[in-house]
Amino acid sequence: MRGSPATRRPHLRASVALAALLLSCGGAERGGSSAGPPAIAARVADLLARMTLDEKLGQMAAVDRRALTSDEDIATYALGSVFSGGGATPEVNVPAAWADMVDGYQRVALSSRLGIPILYGVDAVHGHANAWSATVFPHELGLGAARDPELVEEIGRATAEELAATGVAWDFAPSVAVARDERWGRTYESFGEEPDIAASYGGYVTGLQGAALGAGPASVLATAKHWIADGGTAGGVDGAVGGDAPISDAELRAIHLPPFLSALRAGAGAVMVSHNSVDGVPMHANRPLVTDLLKGQLGFDGIVVSDWGGTADISSDYPLAVRSLVNAGVDLVMVPDDYRSFIATLRDEVTAGRVPMDRIDDAVRRILTKKLELGLFERPFADRAGLASVGSAAHRQLARRAVRESLVLLRNDGILPLARTTPRIYVAGKSADDLGNQAGGWTISWQGSSGAIIPGTTVLDAIRTAVAPGTTVGFDRDGLGADGSWDVAVAVVGETPYAEWLGDRSDDLGLDAEDRATLAALARSGVPTVVIVVSGRPLVVTDLLPGWAALVAAWLPGSEGEGITDVLFGDFAPTGTLPISWPRSAAQVGLHRGDAGYDPLFPYGFGLSWGGTEVAAGTARAVRRRRE
Ligand code: BGC
Repeated sequence: MRGSPATRRPHLRASVALAALLLSCGGAERGGSSAGPPAIAARVADLLARMTLDEKLGQMAAVDRRALTSDEDIATYALGSVFSGGGATPEVNVPAAWADMVDGYQRVALSSRLGIPILYGVDAVHGHANAWSATVFPHELGLGAARDPELVEEIGRATAEELAATGVAWDFAPSVAVARDERWGRTYESFGEEPDIAASYGGYVTGLQGAALGAGPASVLATAKHWIADGGTAGGVDGAVGGDAPISDAELRAIHLPPFLSALRAGAGAVMVSHNSVDGVPMHANRPLVTDLLKGQLGFDGIVVSDWGGTADISSDYPLAVRSLVNAGVDLVMVPDDYRSFIATLRDEVTAGRVPMDRIDDAVRRILTKKLELGLFERPFADRAGLASVGSAAHRQLARRAVRESLVLLRNDGILPLARTTPRIYVAGKSADDLGNQAGGWTISWQGSSGAIIPGTTVLDAIRTAVAPGTTVGFDRDGLGADGSWDVAVAVVGETPYAEWLGDRSDDLGLDAEDRATLAALARSGVPTVVIVVSGRPLVVTDLLPGWAALVAAWLPGSEGEGITDVLFGDFAPTGTLPISWPRSAAQVGLHRGDAGYDPLFPYGFGLSWGGTEVAAGTARAVRRRRE
């Protein structure tokens, strides 16, 4: 858990250091007031003038739908936001039911005294993946391997279409974490271990929001998260379980800030504060970094939202935690459950003068401004005309392209690409026929789970579809029964789903016993084996690698397994490159390009194409342009 105050080191405060930080990062790109264009500013001012204190405090609360005592409370407490935390799906999890559910909440909000709509939020971190039949894109680490900013923008747009069709106006994405230690359970929610990839992916925000908020029907508020240094915690310990980033202001500037600058430049309407602390100070109470840096010096004029129950990071003294959080600069508080006590506590703090009224007004002004910019007052309901886009063929094609671009070929003795006419192909491994494993966490439920939890194509399905009519495809999950009669084995192994701190690892980062047994069975058979690793991070495979004919890192590819066979059978050359160093052993974790003694199994940026040549940066984009 978090260190006691006495063990915490002095936090990053130096205004001098922050000014230097800003200068070296190019300064605020979108400065100005939080009031938006004049017409919107006037509407916000009008509303603010008519709101009671309690109505303002209600706007500052974000509540998980499962915590609503009654739907009517949305109006009674004038709640600003209701959201689906991971897995808070409607009872019948189909897109139209999502639209009904969100519209239902919205109707209650509109019935409140001032009729202010709610912002409905979800974690669409790899597509609208809580919703059955949505397109499930690769998680971010795979998109980092693709090194393709245009692809990411298109994924943002497709995700926004699927969200808007179900009434969701707010996405808690993208994560712009720079994962510095792969033991962290959220490594897959990072585009990579260096800031350059995430910093080139500002287009994700443009894809979600459109050219401007509210510019089209599918404009969804984007959230750059988690502010800041969530990927920089010591030992990769997740912030929610006490992770601290013991870093200097120089490291914060060089490593963790650039992706946020890029997201802000693209106009991200929200920033989510992180559970971690920075140099001992919980980010949820970190006024220098939240108010002075983000809102002040960087000129961020959108909504600063807390992470889930961020008050708990600060203190068990709830009033102290609430006032510290709001005074640090958080505008919208993901309570996420006891909204009555949150509102009552904040009311007491304001009445006692411990939280200034102008802080409350600033928070509510920001929230109302984004609601107005989104056009929520004019178009509060789901754009049901877009329901056909949920899981549409076009979006699945996009996801398939993302999968093939994300693959990194790490070893190939010449066996790949496979001929479609290979007579006998043997498939094995716990993830060969498992959409849940392909999709990882944040899929249907918070943690995700193994099994046929979403519609889509497994690697096994894709292989069966890709091969010539005369080819025999055998399958045994455990690799039992493989013998010399097979021409090649394809083993799909790796991690099973997890999210957040439940995915933190402190072991040897190797393959689990089941995978090792499967691979041993294949090795005994003598069949040349192509290994596809499906995982949220690099896994230590050094001892096994010499026995494999090929190794492909597939990350967490999502619903479209055919992206894997596109490369396996040679329709597309591999173009992905490592967004993260691949260690020889767990002892190497935390080693990054440029460090003394940098000697991973495969370095950052490595990836093979056919014929043993290395992929050059930007290849995916170049290849696509040639084909278009
Ligand atoms: C996670 C956030 C997420 C939020 C809402 C938290 O536990 O840290 O990334 O947006 O839950 O589901």
